[in-house]
Amino acid sequence: MNAHRGFQGVACGSFLLMVGCMDGGMDHGSMDGMDHSMGHFAPAPVVVEGAFTEVLGRIPVVEGTSATLEPQAVRSKPDAGSLDALGYSSAGPLGPTLSLRTGDRIGVTLRNKLSEATNLHWHGLTAPADLDGHPDSGTAPGASKTYSFPISNRAGMYWYHPHFMGSTARQAYRGLAGLIRVTDAQEEALKLPGGLDEIPLVLQDKRVSAGSLVYAPTSSDVMSGWMGETITVNGVASPVLKVRKGWVRLRILNGSNARIFQLALDDQREMRLVGSDGGLLGQSAGIRSQLMGPGERTDLLVDFSKDTTGTVHHLHSLAFANGGVQGRQSFRVLKIVVDSSVGTTTAMPTDLGPISLPDPSKAARTRVFTLDGMGAMGGTTGMSGMTGMTGMHTINGKTWDPRRIDETVVAGQTEIWEFKNTTDEPHPVHVHGLQFSVVARWGGRIAPEPFEKGWKDSFLLLPGETARIALVFPDNPGDFLLHCHNLEHEEDGMMLRFRIQSAGGV
Ligand code: C2O
Ligand code: CU
Ligand code: CU
Repeated sequence: MNAHRGFQGVACGSFLLMVGCMDGGMDHGSMDGMDHSMGHFAPAPVVVEGAFTEVLGRIPVVEGTSATLEPQAVRSKPDAGSLDALGYSSAGPLGPTLSLRTGDRIGVTLRNKLSEATNLHWHGLTAPADLDGHPDSGTAPGASKTYSFPISNRAGMYWYHPHFMGSTARQAYRGLAGLIRVTDAQEEALKLPGGLDEIPLVLQDKRVSAGSLVYAPTSSDVMSGWMGETITVNGVASPVLKVRKGWVRLRILNGSNARIFQLALDDQREMRLVGSDGGLLGQSAGIRSQLMGPGERTDLLVDFSKDTTGTVHHLHSLAFANGGVQGRQSFRVLKIVVDSSVGTTTAMPTDLGPISLPDPSKAARTRVFTLDGMGAMGGTTGMSGMTGMTGMHTINGKTWDPRRIDETVVAGQTEIWEFKNTTDEPHPVHVHGLQFSVVARWGGRIAPEPFEKGWKDSFLLLPGETARIALVFPDNPGDFLLHCHNLEHEEDGMMLRFRIQSAGGV
C-alpha cells in the first residue's frame, strides 16, 4: 500500500507536465468512494501560472462594528457566465474585511441567500461557544442570524468562513471567506506601514475547467485534499501588485482548502517577520521563506526602498521536502512591480512589545492527539467508525461525532497538547476559541519555526512529525472544535470537540 502511494507520487513528481497529473485524472477516477481499502492519494495538480497582468484589487473593507453578510451564488469572474462561485455580497467571491479594534462589540448579521444552510466561524477569535459556528448549527436558506460579541483578541489578522458540517469545504472553496483585521493601541504605536503599504493577501488555489470553478473531490482527492492548478490572490488568478518604494506590510492568509505554500521572494531577500496568527511577535525576525498551511496567517515587512522604478519581483512558492503529494513544484504566486512613488521609509521597530505566551511548566496535564487513519504509515487504524465517504482521517482513532464531547478542560488552566502525525500526508492542525504557542517539534523538522514563536491558532504537522503546543483555556465556557484545516480531511471526520468548563465546575 505504501509502495503504491509512493509510485503515484513519484510518477507525478517526475513528469510534471503530464496531463494526467494536471487534472488529477490518472486512474483514481475508478475509486467510487466506497472502496476505502487503499489509501490512495490524488497527486497535487501541477500549478499553471497565468499572465500576471490583472491588477490585484483591494478587498473592500467594512469600517465599524456592524456588517451584513449575505452569502449567495455569484460569478467567479465578472464576465464569466455561470454562477459557480459564492460570495458574501453580489460583488463576487470572498467577503469584505471587517476592520475592528480590540474591545469593539461586533454585530454581524448573516442573511442566508443560499439554497442550503450555512453559518459563520470566527477563525482565531475567542467568540462565545454558541456563536463559534458549530458544525451542527446552521442558518437555513432565507433565514438570518446576528452574531454579537466583544472582540477580546489582540491586534492581528483573523478570518471568517462557514463551518457547517458537510459543506464547510465546498462553501469555503467556492468563495465564502473573509478577513478580520483587529488593531489595538500597542500595534498602532509601532507605526507599521499602513494605508497603501499594508496589503492583505488571501492565497488560494482553484480548479478551473472550461471557465468554471470545479469542486468534485473523489475519495483520492479527499486523501490529499482538494487542490487546483490556478493560484488566486484575493480571488484574482496570477495578479500583479504595484508597491511603493519603501516598506510594505504583507498580511497573508493561506485560505486554500489543502494547498501548502513555501513563500519566498524571487531574490530570496530577507523579509521581516512581525506577526503570526494571533498578532505581533515579541521581536521581529528576518526570514527568507515561510511554509504556510491552510488557515495560517503571517505578517511580513518587505523593504522595496532600494529598488528602482519598474523593478519586477515575484512572490514564489518554492518546492519543499516531506510534503506528501505536495511541495514538488516551485511556482509564482504574485508579480510585484515597484512604483515610482515613495512610501514608508522610516526605520521599522524590532521590538514589537511584550507578549506573554503560555508557560509550559505550568501545565496541569498533557493530552495526546494522534492523527491517523487510512494514510497511516505501516498500517491502518481507527477504521471502525467509517461510514460512506468519511473515516479515512481520524484523531485518536475517532471521526467527528456531534453527539460526543471528546475532551473536557478547565478555564484558566494550562495544558500541553501533543499532536502526532502518523500518516504520510501533512495536516494543518487548528484549535478553536483561543491562541496557543508551539513549544516543541520533532520527527521531521526539529524545532518550532521562527514564524511559530508567537500566538498561533493553526500550525502545520508534516508526515512523521510530532509537535507540542501550550494552551491556557480562556474563561469562555462551552464547546469548541479541534480539527485538521485541510478542509477535505475535516469533512472526512478529522475533527473532535472539547468542552471548556468554568473554573468553579459545571
Ligand atoms: Cu478556520 Cu474550524 O476553522
Ligand atoms: Cu477556527
Ligand atoms: Cu489533515
